[in-house]
Amino acid sequence: MTATLSCTGLSKRYGDILAVQDVGFFIEKGEAYGLLGPNGAGKTTAISMLVGLLQPDAGSVQVCGHDLAADPIAAKAKIGYVPQEIALYPDLTARENLRFFGRLYGLPRRELAKRIDEVLDFVGLSDRADGKIDTYSGGMKRRINIGAALLHRPQVLILDEPTVGVDPQSRKAILDGVEQLVADGMSLLYTSHYMEEVERVCKRVGIIDHGRVIAEGTRKELVSTLGSADRVELVLDGDLDVATEKLRAVQGVTEAVRAGTSSIRLIVNEGSHLLPTLIAAVQGIAVVTAVEVIEPDLEAAFLHLTGNKLRD
Ligand SMILES: Nc1ncnc2c1ncn2[C@@H]1O[C@H](COP(=O)(O)OP(=O)(O)OP(=O)(O)O)[C@@H](O)[C@H]1O
Ligand SMILES: [Mg+2]
Repeated sequence: MTATLSCTGLSKRYGDILAVQDVGFFIEKGEAYGLLGPNGAGKTTAISMLVGLLQPDAGSVQVCGHDLAADPIAAKAKIGYVPQEIALYPDLTARENLRFFGRLYGLPRRELAKRIDEVLDFVGLSDRADGKIDTYSGGMKRRINIGAALLHRPQVLILDEPTVGVDPQSRKAILDGVEQLVADGMSLLYTSHYMEEVERVCKRVGIIDHGRVIAEGTRKELVSTLGSADRVELVLDGDLDVATEKLRAVQGVTEAVRAGTSSIRLIVNEGSHLLPTLIAAVQGIAVVTAVEVIEPDLEAAFLHLTGNKLRD
């Protein structure tokens, strides 16, 4: 099976700065791939080469079997690109903006009118369609920008930090919409420095730092590079000293300590799987009234791999 989007050996230098170095990855049909990296990591530079806006110093890009350099028109027709900076005409209405972009894609007038209605409905802005863009919030503008990228029914949607500076309502609309597109078979490249968004939306993640993809995998695979176990906190009623001893004896529990008058903290492997066993182990001694499993996350993996925090 051909990947919807793939790149190999992508590199770009700006003077002394190697903004992107030997970047390669692939995205299957219907797959959501995340590029997670801090400010200045090279995300926008990499994307600009993937969508044909920036000439790479080295490397190649394939979109649905079309080589971007050899056959740019066919390749670009399969891509929907939502840039980091909003690109809309403030004096035009949302509908007029969409009409403008739709014509750039060469959509016939009839079909375009229908697609505009569909896209406005999809981004949840049908009722505001005839308002000027400069009366829109940042989040609403972003949603129209995403709509513009969908007009020509691309195979892969490329989003560059789509929720930066966006109100919570629009953020939710964007994330829900993106998940729906992927569920319907769209391939997705999602870049962000928000770990929780990438964790939610993407099945596979590439961690990018100083222009290089330094690790790649599912959330689980990346987090397993930490080699650390889950933390579990139990709140209990009963004899906590005896309960602590019992819990410590459970296979998979590497540590159990009392925390305050009503809690026990544990370090366990595969915490959520072990919960029933933990609860059973204290039966007759204490009653578990609350449970919290604190799993290691991508932020922890990123920290481990780069020695840096994701956010400044
Ligand atoms: N046009 C340019 N000229 C010179 N240097 C550039 C240019 N564009 C980007 N850079 C540099 O290349 C590196 C990568 O920048 P890029 O914008 O790709 O990062 P990013 O991961 O998108 O960051 P952000 O999260 O801030 O958007 C940075 O060091 C940046 O300063
Ligand atoms: Mg950027």
